[in-house]
Amino acid sequence: MPPPIFKPRRRLTQNRLKYGIGLTIFIILTYLYLFPSSPVLRILSRPQTPSPHHTTASNSTLGFQKILVLSTRPSWRTRGLHAAAAHTNLDLTIPNQALPTDELITAFQSLGPSSVKHPLRGEAFNWLAHLDLMKLIAAQDYTTALILEDDVDWDVSIKEQMKLLSDAVREFTYAAPEEEGPYGERWDVLWLGHCGEPTRRDTRRLEYFDASVPAMGNYSGWAARYHDGLSEGVRVVQRAVNPVCSFAFAVTRRGARKILKWAGKGENEAYDIRLMQGCKEKRLSCVVVNPELMHHYVPPREFGHISNVAEGNGRASEAEEEEFERIMGNTANVVNSTRCRALFDSTCMR
Ligand SMILES: *[C@@H]1O[C@H](CO)[C@@H](O)[C@H](O)[C@H]1NC(C)=O
Ligand SMILES: *[C@@H]1O[C@H](CO)[C@@H](O)[C@H](O)[C@H]1NC(C)=O
Ligand SMILES: *[C@@H]1O[C@H](CO)[C@@H](O)[C@H](O)[C@H]1NC(C)=O
Repeated sequence: MPPPIFKPRRRLTQNRLKYGIGLTIFIILTYLYLFPSSPVLRILSRPQTPSPHHTTASNSTLGFQKILVLSTRPSWRTRGLHAAAAHTNLDLTIPNQALPTDELITAFQSLGPSSVKHPLRGEAFNWLAHLDLMKLIAAQDYTTALILEDDVDWDVSIKEQMKLLSDAVREFTYAAPEEEGPYGERWDVLWLGHCGEPTRRDTRRLEYFDASVPAMGNYSGWAARYHDGLSEGVRVVQRAVNPVCSFAFAVTRRGARKILKWAGKGENEAYDIRLMQGCKEKRLSCVVVNPELMHHYVPPREFGHISNVAEGNGRASEAEEEEFERIMGNTANVVNSTRCRALFDSTCMR
């Protein structure tokens, strides 16, 4: 029979233990409440320490093995693009686009079960052309390539922007020092240009200073409402949340192959939406920069210009190219447009 003194002491120990556990939980909860775990990885301080990757990130193909342009034919789009490329000393490659047959377009449109969305004719045409570029990348075995659509525009400081992006992407993806290329290799898609991508306060992201960021009040597009996680003068890199538009994105060798498998079977309304779906469902590993570094240039509205995709859907362009080409249009979210600098010696942010 145990001595009676043991009982109270044991109870006391248990109470202490309970008290201790309770106090610990209370302290942890208070700490978490006061200092919620921040999804912001790090704010890179200025000035950047020079990195060997800066030299390649600012070379004439912006640190990718090739810059490939998707273009059906020479037009105001390509003329402006060449002028912009010359102004910032970029080396673009515009592969000849092989035109698909009507039968192939129709067949592609109808791929997949009836429960999924299907592309319209213009979207299917654009989608097939994008797939051709992915096949080219795979066939040439490029390590990385930047894909541009031919109406795209960028800031005159694009090379400085890419140096900063190089640091940010390497840091965000924990690129190992031996990983080649200024942006490492740990992504399939690096979305440089888009029509909008949300950055909310709880978006895991890496922030970095970039003097070329448009003022928050001047940022336009559908995602402006979802930018409560962005600050003035700062860009972020993050995992893709909801990026749309395919006018400027880079792929790795692995990414091109994955896109061919994922987007090669149709099953959505447009190529960019299919990529976005792949990013969201983690079929593709997608890193996005926000606000975007590239955006498409839009000719003056009064000329009734419509996009290539819309033309493909049967709406003929009403625009007289020779007329509107001499009048400045605008580019959203690019503070110092290279097209407008090269063609009109002006800025033209929407
Ligand atoms: C730019 O750098 C990338 C990455 O090192 C390289 O693959 C590419 O060939 C370079 N571009 C030029 C024009 O040298
Ligand atoms: C937006 O742009 C206009 C004209 O370019 C400029 O005057 C204004 O200061 C900008 N707004 C903000 C919030 O910076
Ligand atoms: C735009 O860039 C040019 C150099 O190409 C520079 O002279 C000009 O001051 C810049 N303008 C703005 C508004 O940043």
